[in-house]
Amino acid sequence: MKVLVTGGTGYIGSHTCVELLQNGDEVIIADNLYNSKPEVVERIASISGKAPVFYEADVTDKAAIRKIFAEHQIDAVIHFAAYKAVGESCKIPLRYYRNNLDSALTLLECMQEAGCKNIVFSSSATVYGPNNPVPYVEEMPTYVATNPYGWTKVMIEQILRDISTADPEFSAVLLRYFNPIGAHESGLLGDDPSGIPNNLMPYVVRVASGQLEKLTMYGDDYDTPDGSCVRDYLHVVDLAKGHLKALDYAVNHKGAEAVNLGTGNGLSVFELVDAFEASTGVKVNRVVGPRRDGDLPQIWAGTEKAEKLLGWHAEKTVEEMCRDSWNFVVKSRE
Ligand code: UFG
Repeated sequence: MKVLVTGGTGYIGSHTCVELLQNGDEVIIADNLYNSKPEVVERIASISGKAPVFYEADVTDKAAIRKIFAEHQIDAVIHFAAYKAVGESCKIPLRYYRNNLDSALTLLECMQEAGCKNIVFSSSATVYGPNNPVPYVEEMPTYVATNPYGWTKVMIEQILRDISTADPEFSAVLLRYFNPIGAHESGLLGDDPSGIPNNLMPYVVRVASGQLEKLTMYGDDYDTPDGSCVRDYLHVVDLAKGHLKALDYAVNHKGAEAVNLGTGNGLSVFELVDAFEASTGVKVNRVVGPRRDGDLPQIWAGTEKAEKLLGWHAEKTVEEMCRDSWNFVVKSRE
């Protein structure tokens, strides 16, 4: 299959490109390198033994995306390209709405012009909002996001559902990710955010490597077993593999389906940091601080639909997630 991957040099995108290439698919990446580095393209090629076609292109640039569809007979699209920082989205909401909505609309218009009917979309567990009980299951209402980033995911999900209602040939799988961590076992690909990380694992590894002084764990007074927030962490390679299953589903079915990609297990902040220390043997200097605005106490996935519809479940352990996250940092410094 010939697959266009927008945002293919990003954290989840790059791991997905590797899985696609190893599966024998042809990969065309469109990425503006806004939050990633050009050498990721070579790394994807060196792991897979096969090079993706790379376009340095912004998905909001219609002429650039149209050109890609003109030059390739694309069977399906995986749309990762988006701004993704929750806190930043609250400070510059207009930029988030403009970028995330514009890129989705531009891409979908280009797909329509080219007659490409299959898409897998990077959604997020954030669409479940603050009012649903855990575990989150796909049938729950998703119309109340807690931040502009989350709203862009809710809105794009709705756009995809509307297109699939209007066009019976259209097929979309909306993948709701929980908390991806870990890295490729080669140590060549991983989560490498620029600036000070917002997410837990990138922060943990920078403290462990001495690049940052200490980790502040946000809150120990939540109504959870140990008082810290609980999340559903999954290995990014498991997540990447879920995209291949979703792609397969999309090309063989019609309509729009939302599917959670998570392990179904909740792990607290304290437990994750302990697991990191135990599996790497590296200490993480840490303190407990106040709660972070907007954090929900506990989030984890219902996983039945992913298993039933896609035949997918997460396989890797928390130890592997921690070890691979750390290995990526160690390899990056060699
Ligand atoms: N945390 C800390 N210290 C830090 C960073 C995070 O204690 O320095 C805690 C947070 O308070 C939270 C947990 O670690 O309890 C996980 O936080 P992350 O920022 O890693 O992830 P979130 O669960 O807040 O958000 C993630 C994605 C979002 C997505 C959301 C879906 O980053 O894009 O999951 O639920 F929307």
